[in-house]
Amino acid sequence: MRRVNIDTVPPGAKLARTVFSSDGGVLLMQGVELRESYLELLKNRGITEIYLDDDLSAGIEVHDVINENTRNEAVTLVKRIMTGYSFSDAIDVEKVKLMVSKIVDELLANDDILYNLTEIKTVDDYTFEHSVNVCILSLITGIGLGFDTTQLRELGIGAILHDIGKLCIPREILKKPCQLTVEEFEEIKRHTVLGYELLKNSGQLYMVSSYIALGHHERYDGSGYPLRLKNKEIQLYARIVAVADVYDALTSDRVYRKRLKPHEVYEYITSLGFHHFDPQVVDSFVKFVTVYPVGSGVLLNTRERAIVVKHNRKMPTRPVVRIVYDENMKRRSKEIDLSQDKSIFVVDAWEV
Ligand SMILES: [Fe+2]
Repeated sequence: MRRVNIDTVPPGAKLARTVFSSDGGVLLMQGVELRESYLELLKNRGITEIYLDDDLSAGIEVHDVINENTRNEAVTLVKRIMTGYSFSDAIDVEKVKLMVSKIVDELLANDDILYNLTEIKTVDDYTFEHSVNVCILSLITGIGLGFDTTQLRELGIGAILHDIGKLCIPREILKKPCQLTVEEFEEIKRHTVLGYELLKNSGQLYMVSSYIALGHHERYDGSGYPLRLKNKEIQLYARIVAVADVYDALTSDRVYRKRLKPHEVYEYITSLGFHHFDPQVVDSFVKFVTVYPVGSGVLLNTRERAIVVKHNRKMPTRPVVRIVYDENMKRRSKEIDLSQDKSIFVVDAWEV
């Protein structure tokens, strides 16, 4: 299977992964033949990419790090909390704890954790899917850092609720499609303190989890907010969620900007933005995240076009690829391991 831009899907192509709506319902089942009306339905839901099965990608498998149903349950739960909550209600802490435990258990049972950016993102429900992705990415990083189950649960709960304070920020500011005024940005910054207060006052959460809401926008060099803490003054869990939050935000389309390509975000986190993050946390994070997701298209320095077949843990920028078109766009089918053949390398992502 391969991941493609929805505008390039040939008529009659077969859907390789089920597409879900933000409330967990099935929009289109895996295996269905994609008619024009189905594609329109997906586009109307803000879906821009899907997975296809075709002869170019035969035999290429793409796996999510957790079960599809667990992911959907988690998104639905976050949505319920973040749309149903009012100050007089209590957050259903028990449900959140159970959900996070389930995600932790699934991740710990997975002996080959690889975050492959498999989910199909929609624009309108960004916050809910984002919360779940940040939770998963943070937990993966925590596993890499050798956390025990208790630490993982504390981390996961704070991570999935890290943006809960946005409940208290006016929607028109959160969804504003253009640049914010200074005052509006100051208002958005308050979601950290407000989130911390909400979680702290819920009374049934680990205090350390509440600090994640407060500290996830602090930056390692002291350039963050709300307290401009730096280095180890920032709680470790918040330093982890900061990386996960930025990674998922930059790989997602937002109302005010298009997403970056996964390898550009990887580059940002490991080089340009490096001073924002704890280097030890970044080291653990990148061990489990693909630079070029399996099933995605890449352009090689030879001008050949290929699909990523397998991630190389030791050399993440040099995956195993299947060349599907030569430099003249003539059909080819040849697999090469870029960690073995050093004269060939990836120069960019290729929108298949
Ligand atoms: Fe945030």
